[in-house]
Amino acid sequence: MKVILFGASGMVGQGVLRECLRSNEVGSVLSVVRRAGRQQHPKLREIVHGDFADFFEIEGELTGYDACFFCLGVSSLGMKERDYRWVTYEFALAAAGTLARLNPGMTFVYVSGAGTDSTGRGTTMWARVKGQTENAIFELPFKAAYAFRPAYIQPLDGIVPRTAWLRALYAVVAPLYPVWKALFPNYVTTTEQVGRAMIHVARDGAPGRVLENRDISAMGG
Ligand SMILES: NC(=O)c1ccc[n+]([C@@H]2O[C@H](COP(=O)([O-])OP(=O)(O)OC[C@H]3O[C@@H](n4cnc5c(N)ncnc54)[C@H](OP(=O)(O)O)[C@@H]3O)[C@@H](O)[C@H]2O)c1
Repeated sequence: MKVILFGASGMVGQGVLRECLRSNEVGSVLSVVRRAGRQQHPKLREIVHGDFADFFEIEGELTGYDACFFCLGVSSLGMKERDYRWVTYEFALAAAGTLARLNPGMTFVYVSGAGTDSTGRGTTMWARVKGQTENAIFELPFKAAYAFRPAYIQPLDGIVPRTAWLRALYAVVAPLYPVWKALFPNYVTTTEQVGRAMIHVARDGAPGRVLENRDISAMGG
C-alpha cells in the first residue's frame, strides 16, 4: 500500500508514521509537511510545502496512492472560529479534494476527535467545525473515507506532542496512563493503536465510516 501522510511531525502523525514504517502492509509513505523533518527511512519521502490551502503546485507528486492518513490539526483552545476553521476545515478539504480527484481508488482517513458533532450545527465551536469537516470529506468521491474520533491518546515510543502546552500537560497526565486505562477503558487509546487501526481500515475497511475511540483501540489491537 502507498500512503500519503499529513501531520507527520505531530503527536498523532508521529505514531502513524512509525506504524507505517514498521508495517509490511505499507510499501511507501509520502509525508507532506511545512518544515523538513529529521527522520530518514528507505520507505519515507518528504515534500515540504508552503500553502496547505492549495496543493496545485505539487499535484504531480500526489497521484498513484492507495491511502491518505490526515493527522494535521490544531487544538481550538484560545482560537477564534475563523482561524480554527482555516486549519481544520480548509486545509483538510484542500488536501482531500485534490487527492479525491487524483486518486479515485484512495481510502482517506481523517482524524477528528471524540465528541465531534455530526450535525455540524451544535454550540461547541470545535465539535461543529470538525463535524462539518467530516461531512464534507464524506461527500468526496473516494473509494472510502473514515473519521477517527480518539479521546485521550497515550503517546508511546518516545513520541511527544508538537504543541508546547500539550507537552506540559502530557508530562503530568501520561505517567498516570494505567489509571486512565483502568477507569475509562473506552476513552483511552495509544499512538500505536491509532496507527495500526488506520492501516487496518485502509486495507480492509470498517463497518461504519466513523470510528469512535473504542473502535480504534479494538482495531489497533
Ligand atoms: N493528541 C490527542 O490526544 C488527540 C485526541 C483526539 C484528537 N486529536 C486530533 O488529532 C489531530 C492531531 O493532533 P496532535 O495531538 O498530533 O497535534 P500536534 O502534536 O500539535 O501536531 C499537529 C500537527 O499538525 C501540523 N499543523 C498544525 N498547524 C499547521 C499549519 N498551520 N500548517 C501546516 N501544518 C500544521 C503540525 O505541523 P508542524 O510540526 O509544522 O507544526 C503537526 O504535524 C488534531 O486534529 C487533534 O484534534 C488529538
